[in-house]
Amino acid sequence: MVTKHLPTVLITGASGILGQKLRRHFSSLGWRLKLIDIDDFGDPAVIKADLSVRDEAWTRHCIGVDAIIHLAAQTRPDAPWDAVARSNVAATQNVYEAARQGPRRVVFASSNWVMAGYRYRDGKLTTDLPPAPINPYGVSKLIGESLGRFYHERWGLSTICFRIGYCLPGENLPGQWMDLGFWGQLMWLSDRDLCQAMERAVLVDDVGFAILNLVSDNPGMRWDIDATRTLIGYRPLDGAIPVLPLRTRMREAIASLARRNFSFANTWRPPYEAVDFAAPADLSQSSPERCDLNGHR
Ligand SMILES: NC(=O)c1ccc[n+]([C@@H]2O[C@H](COP(=O)([O-])OP(=O)(O)OC[C@H]3O[C@@H](n4cnc5c(N)ncnc54)[C@H](O)[C@@H]3O)[C@@H](O)[C@H]2O)c1
Repeated sequence: MVTKHLPTVLITGASGILGQKLRRHFSSLGWRLKLIDIDDFGDPAVIKADLSVRDEAWTRHCIGVDAIIHLAAQTRPDAPWDAVARSNVAATQNVYEAARQGPRRVVFASSNWVMAGYRYRDGKLTTDLPPAPINPYGVSKLIGESLGRFYHERWGLSTICFRIGYCLPGENLPGQWMDLGFWGQLMWLSDRDLCQAMERAVLVDDVGFAILNLVSDNPGMRWDIDATRTLIGYRPLDGAIPVLPLRTRMREAIASLARRNFSFANTWRPPYEAVDFAAPADLSQSSPERCDLNGHR
């Protein structure tokens, strides 16, 4: 174990979807929590701070904690470069830098989007395959992983990067309301599997640096979770078989066949790949792509 006492954990992005689920879970275990988010939504337990700006007002909260779970990010897959450069790259580097002052472990919330380019290919998705992001968001998560490797090798900071699948707000029930067809549903991550993996990531001994897939045990999925099981003792309790209407299944089969066999089909881009990421976007507005992307990060 990283610690023999009940751990103190700092969660960044604590007001968000995963932050709220983890707060509930860790509180039920009696763990002490420090919570940071750029938006506190009126919750006095949350320390309000913009992590893209390194500032002693928040970095001092990294002292005396056993682990940092770094969730804070711009999470829209259609976010442009400038937004992810700030909230994902600069903020993550600031968090790793602040972590040098105290905790022995950082758990970094990476994303399945690092591997989105494999959607229309075959084979198991292990974390030693070459990454294939298709948007600035995915690239920013890949940089977050690389920063973790750097801070481990240079400063000995222990870091576990989870390539998180698809976890919905609220009840988080899997089903056809999830985006991106089979690809989306086969990366479902239940609340209790999320909480178990994060708990293990805080407590497990002897991990220097690791990149691990984090999804539930969904029958038929390509995501490989063997390393997650072996390294941190993850034992997923849930799994869901995709449910898709016949029309969507046919569309998926045709798209997949076309992408594999006809080069012209690869010039077509689904909305989430066709965004002009260089253009500044108003991220407070929902975009047409949002219907494809909602909740899927
Ligand atoms: N939910 C999923 O399915 C999923 C999938 C893959 C990866 N992830 C990753 O997990 C993490 C949490 O995801 P989520 O679904 O809870 O996202 P979310 O958008 O609900 O929460 C992110 C939180 O980060 C905060 N934040 C953003 N920029 C900040 C900054 N500069 N300083 C401080 N706080 C900032 C936001 O206010 C928000 O509360 C993210 O890093 C996301 O990329 C989530």
